Formats: sequence, C-alpha cells, structure tokens
Amino acid sequence: MDVFALPAEVRERTSALRRAGSRVAFVPTMGALHAGHGSLFDVARRHADCVIASIFVNPTQFGPAEDFDRYPRPFAADAAFCAAAGVDILFCPRREDMYAPEHSILVVEGALTRGLCGPFRPGHFRGVLTVVTQLLNIVQPDVAVFGQKDAQQARLIQTLVRDLHMHTRVLVAPTWRDPDGLAMSSRNQYLSSDERRHALALSQALQLGETLYAQGVRDAAQVCARMHAVCATAGAAAVIEYVEAVDFATLRPVVELVDGTLLAVCVRIGRTRLIDNVVLGRARVAREYDLV
Ligand code: PAJ
Repeated sequence: MDVFALPAEVRERTSALRRAGSRVAFVPTMGALHAGHGSLFDVARRHADCVIASIFVNPTQFGPAEDFDRYPRPFAADAAFCAAAGVDILFCPRREDMYAPEHSILVVEGALTRGLCGPFRPGHFRGVLTVVTQLLNIVQPDVAVFGQKDAQQARLIQTLVRDLHMHTRVLVAPTWRDPDGLAMSSRNQYLSSDERRHALALSQALQLGETLYAQGVRDAAQVCARMHAVCATAGAAAVIEYVEAVDFATLRPVVELVDGTLLAVCVRIGRTRLIDNVVLGRARVAREYDLV
C-alpha cells in the first residue's frame, strides 16, 4: 500500500492508473476505522481494480461546540487496517494542503439539507460537500463508495455529483452493525457501557418501523410515534433530535410509507450524537438509488 500526503501525488498516480485502463474506486473517511469502513473497502474492491481510501478529519464539517479536537486519530492502527483490507493507496492530506489560508470557495446545498441533521448541525453539510468536492477532484475516481449509515450525506453526494457534472458513480453500501444491532460508528467509543446499552433503542426503533411496514401499516405519523416511544426508552440522559419518515430521493417528509421511504432517527445520549436509518423495501429500490 502506498501512502500519500500531497494532493498532487495522488492525482498523478490515479491519472496514470486510469490512462493504463484501471478502474479506480474511492472511499473517503475520517479514520478511526471499523468494520463498517472495511465493508466499504470491500464494495470498492468489487467495483474497481484499484482502491483508494482517504483519512482526513475535516475541520470545516465540525461545529464550534462539536468534537473536532477529541475526534479519535489512531493513525498507525488505521494505516494497518487499510493495508490488511487490501487498500492500494491511502491518502492522508494535511489540513494546510486541503485548505490554504486564502481558501474561500464553499459548496452549499439548498434542499436536501433542510431537514434531518441539517438544522441541528448548521454548516456541517457545507463542510462535507466542500471537502468531498475537493477529494473527488483530486482522486477523480470512477466509483466512490459511501455508507447508508449517513444516508443524508450519501444522498447529498449523489446530488453533488449529478449537479456539478462530476464523472463519478456514487454507490451507497449497507450499514454495518454490531451483533446486537448498534450501527458501527467511530463515535461509539465515546459511549459508557450504560450509554452503549441505551443506544440500542435506535436500531430497535427502526426494526419496529420495518416490522410495522411489513405488516402493512402505511401511516407515517403512526409509525414515527411508535418509533419515538422506543427511542424514549434510551434513558434520562437521552435527547431525541428527530424520528422521521422521508422520501429517500428528496429527503422530504412523507405521509404514507412506501418502498424507498427512509426511516431515520437521531438521539443524543450524554455527549454523543447517534444517528441510524433504514430504507423500506431496500432491495426493491436498490437499483434506483445505487444502493449496493
Ligand atoms: P466517516 O464518519 O469516517 O465515514 C466514512 C464513510 O464510512 C461514510 O461514507 C460513512 O457513511 C461510512 N460508514 C460509517 N459507519 C458505517 C457503518 N456502520 N456501516 C457502513 N458504512 C459506514 O462520513 C465521513 O467520515 C465524512 O463526512 C467524510 C465523507 C469522509 C467527509 O469528511
């Protein structure tokens, strides 16, 4: 595995690979890698000859009161993880190489960011879209793989690529979970054992939503209310930010559940903000949204 810090080195290497006829797949991350990231590397491998991962804790996507400073940065372990996962090229840029002091262009979206996490994390998606635009321009991959765990982010990046005419196909890979259902996240390591137990309320709420849908319940308000009640079992230190049923394409709330409805929840447990989601009838709408 080759490790590069400079954008120009990565760009040169990937354009040489493409000229030689290789297909390039890219998986951007912020590190603190876990099996969920590993599953994206596997998807990338299935769609390309060369897999590139990036690790960059992007400062512009963290709010002033968020966890930028304490975000875990286990670089040696992450590099070993990538090498073992068969990543061919690891790109770890320095902050000053991504954001020169005079950096002044930001990528702003005006529809899909209105709901879900958007209002709770002002500026977050602007930071994500800006850095992902930079990364896609540097790597210029044929395929980029994002996790459904961050469904709003994945839809935004599909929309970014469409609206800015980028030559990359954006695949959305399934959420990887611990055996008890908790969606894997680099932030799970912030949880105490009590909080970790309470965090199961998120996946349990989503499971209930899926079960009700399978039983034929179609009333979104009714299903969200039932899911909300499950999230409320997450204990006294839990604050529910949202429990929503939205259209996966537009991320706008729906009245009636159908295949392609995204059930999404966000609960803060202590200092840790947890999100999770499911797409109803995922297999039936997979092709439409490049869900793998
Ligand atoms: P990060 O949180 O490190 O996540 C990197 C990728 O891994 C994202 O596409 C995310 O959705 C995916 N991922 C995280 N947990 C997952 C899980 N349990 N199962 C499957 N995929 C999972 O998301 C970011 O970094 C950043 O916002 C980034 C896109 C790199 C821009 O800075």
